[in-house]
Formats: sequence, C-alpha cells, structure tokens
Amino acid sequence: MTREKLRIGLFGYGCVGQGLHDVLIKSSGFKADIVRICVKDRTKERRIPMSNFTFDKYDILNDKSINLIVELIDDADEAFIIAKTAMTNGKNVVTANKKMLAIHFKELVELQEKYKVSLLYEASAGASIPIIRNLEEYYDNELLYSIRGILNGSTNYILTRMYNEGVTYSQALSEAKEKGFAESDPKLDVEGWDAKYKLCIITGHAYGLFLDPDQVFHYGITTISEFDIQYAKEKGFKIKLVPYVGKTNDNTITSFVLPRFLSSDKYLFNVDNEYNGVIAEAAFADKQFFYGKGAGGHAAGFAVLSDISANSYGYRYEYKKYQQGTVSDYTRDFKLEIYLRYRNEKERELFGFEEVSEYFSGRFNKYVIGVVNLERLYTLREQLRDLDVFIVNTGRKF
Ligand SMILES: NC(=O)c1ccc[n+]([C@@H]2O[C@H](COP(=O)([O-])OP(=O)(O)OC[C@H]3O[C@@H](n4cnc5c(N)ncnc54)[C@H](OP(=O)(O)O)[C@@H]3O)[C@@H](O)[C@H]2O)c1
Repeated sequence: MTREKLRIGLFGYGCVGQGLHDVLIKSSGFKADIVRICVKDRTKERRIPMSNFTFDKYDILNDKSINLIVELIDDADEAFIIAKTAMTNGKNVVTANKKMLAIHFKELVELQEKYKVSLLYEASAGASIPIIRNLEEYYDNELLYSIRGILNGSTNYILTRMYNEGVTYSQALSEAKEKGFAESDPKLDVEGWDAKYKLCIITGHAYGLFLDPDQVFHYGITTISEFDIQYAKEKGFKIKLVPYVGKTNDNTITSFVLPRFLSSDKYLFNVDNEYNGVIAEAAFADKQFFYGKGAGGHAAGFAVLSDISANSYGYRYEYKKYQQGTVSDYTRDFKLEIYLRYRNEKERELFGFEEVSEYFSGRFNKYVIGVVNLERLYTLREQLRDLDVFIVNTGRKF
C-alpha cells in the first residue's frame, strides 16, 4: 500500500505535543514533517526555535500544503473548532482530546462521512493502550458483555500514593500535576469527568451508541478519606476509579463511573500509579486484559504517532458496531451494591437502599453496604458534590 507523504500542522506543544515530537524524531522507520506548530502563550520559552510556531490557527488551517492536522491542545471548545474546520476543508485529523470527542461524538462521526475524511483518536482513551482500534478491528464481530477498567492515570496515581505511602489527597494531587499526569483542569480527573469521556468514546466503538455524556452517571475520588482507605485495607481491597459499560440484555446497555473495591485476585488490583488497564468480557474471546501507561507525554505521544502512521495508509474507523446496530437502548435502571460512608442518617436515606448487608456506626463515621439503583444515584448527582460521603461500588454480584 502506498503511503502519502505527511505534512503535519500541529496544535499544542505541551506534554503530549512535545512527547509526540520526541517519538517522531526517534522513530527512524517513519517520516513525517511537522510544518508548523500553533500554540497560545506568546511569552513562554520554547525548546525549539520560534520560527516553528504560530499563534494564529488559520496559518495552519488555510495552508494547502498541510495534509494532516494533529490537535493536542487542552481546550475542548477550541479543539472542536479546529477539528471541524479542518475536516470541513477536507483535511484528516488526529486528536487526543477526549472531552471534545465525547461531547461532539455523533457530529464528528457525521463530519467524517460527509467530507470523506478521517478522524483518529487512539490516545484519547487509555493513552498507550490500543483499545479503540482493537474494539474496531478485533472485536468487530464479538458479542461484548462488558468493558471496564482504569482509564484515568492521574486518579490512579493519587489513589496508589494514598494507599501505598499514606500521603494526603492534596499532596498526591500536586505530585500528579508535577509529573504531567493530570489535566490542566484537574477537576476533570478527580471528579470522574475524564474517565466518563473516555468511557463514552469506548462505548461508541464497543456498542455503537454515541451517548451524551450527561446521560452517564459519574462519581470521582474528591471525598475519599483515610477511613475509606483503612476499611479497604482491612478487607484486603484496593480502591480504584473504574468506569463500566455493559449489556443488560441483548439490545440494551448501561454505564457509569464509580470508585470500586478490588480484591487481590482481580486483574485491575495490580494496575498502579499512572498505569491503565482495560478488561473486555466477551462471549467467544472470554476475558481479556490490556495494560499500559495511561498518561505521560511519550506514552500518549506514541499513540498519536500510531494514528499518524495509520493515517498515512488511509486508515479510517468504520464504526462497525454502529453500522451493525444491534444495541439500540441505554438504561440506568440497574442495581448495584455500594459501600456508602456517611455521617448522618438523612444522607443515607437519600440513597434508598433496597437491601443492606453490612452496617457500622462509629464516633465519627458510619458506613452501610447495600443495593441501590443507578437511576437513584443519577438523580442525586448534583447533590452528591456537596455531601460528606464517599461511595464505592463493591463489584459483588447479588
Ligand atoms: N497529558 C497526558 O498524559 C494526556 C494523555 C492522553 C491525552 N491527553 C490529551 O491531550 C491533550 C493535550 O494535553 P497536554 O497534557 O499535552 O496539555 P498541556 O501540557 O497543558 O499543553 C496544552 C497545549 O495546548 C496549547 N493550547 C491551549 N489552548 C490553545 C489554543 N487556543 N490555541 C493553540 N494552542 C493552545 C498550549 O499552548 P501554550 O504552550 O502556549 O500554553 C499547550 O502547548 C488534551 O486534550 C489531553 O486531554 C493528555
């Protein structure tokens, strides 16, 4: 197959942009020229000559000699304008921006079809783990029961540091920022938004539904306490932030993002620090586990390079599960067993526990383990941010 000579217009020269530049220089087998780089801050010192940069996006978008746009900025609204303009002008795009993708998923899929261009985004979910192309190409005829995993390197790093070294939440968050694992707005990580955006992208490829992220319940780790970690340790569990999507019947799926207890016999138990792990459960292939770095300039930069390379031989996602159309419905009518740590009974009543299997009441903290409905959690989603509680999915079948 002939490969088109790529002339790249790059947006963003931060953690991933520079990571991509490094891996491109070191990848002797693949040649592509970065023609121009668009960045935002005119005062920042750059590690390469200023003649490589522009501050005007149209210097790149209107350059007819550029045939591939690589979008690696941290502003989802601006990223959408860049991706849409590029595609409308007939240029292929590679991006790592999960927020932009999840929010505009359906429209971006339609733009590819309408303008006969390709949009690739392997780095957007699981960074170095090639989950999207695997869902597209390897699991295209597989009946997937569920996909779950650890998809946010920053929260996983924080939880690992708190669990293993006893560091405080705020100290662990500062470290995650310093190491380049956290988003520019770390709320996206710790409140569970980032994991949810990735889950929505995975859902599009695993089941062919382009969900509005607002439909999906997410809950992060901002209220985790020493008490919760101590409880987990005593039971031999770790706590990880685990997004889940799975079938509830032949044509319906559910999905959510929640912290989860993991015992030592689970694959995800040993996925620590900035690493990510994804488990696919399927009818024929059974259970499969993907593991790799979920954050960092070189790990994400390498996934971007892989998309650039795929682009050079004309690769496009076909959205095979969407074409097959076997899954048509989404539900939040789904029962889960959760651990709820709380302080007063009024808070507990909000959750409408249907069954309770464990209850503890101490001087400062109480907890209950029981079954709740996902729809109920979803209706509480705004309130939950202000409650002094912490929720963990026990993962137990009941
Ligand atoms: N970091 C990771 O491990 C990772 C992994 C997978 C995916 N991602 C995704 O990759 C993208 C980039 O992340 P990052 O960590 O590299 O971010 P970052 O280090 O904060 O860098 C962001 C870059 O975007 C540029 N930028 C921001 N707004 C711009 C605008 N309006 N026009 C032009 N340039 C603009 C910034 O310019 P200045 O240099 O002038 O400030 C900077 O170079 C995000 O979508 C992120 O979610 C990150």
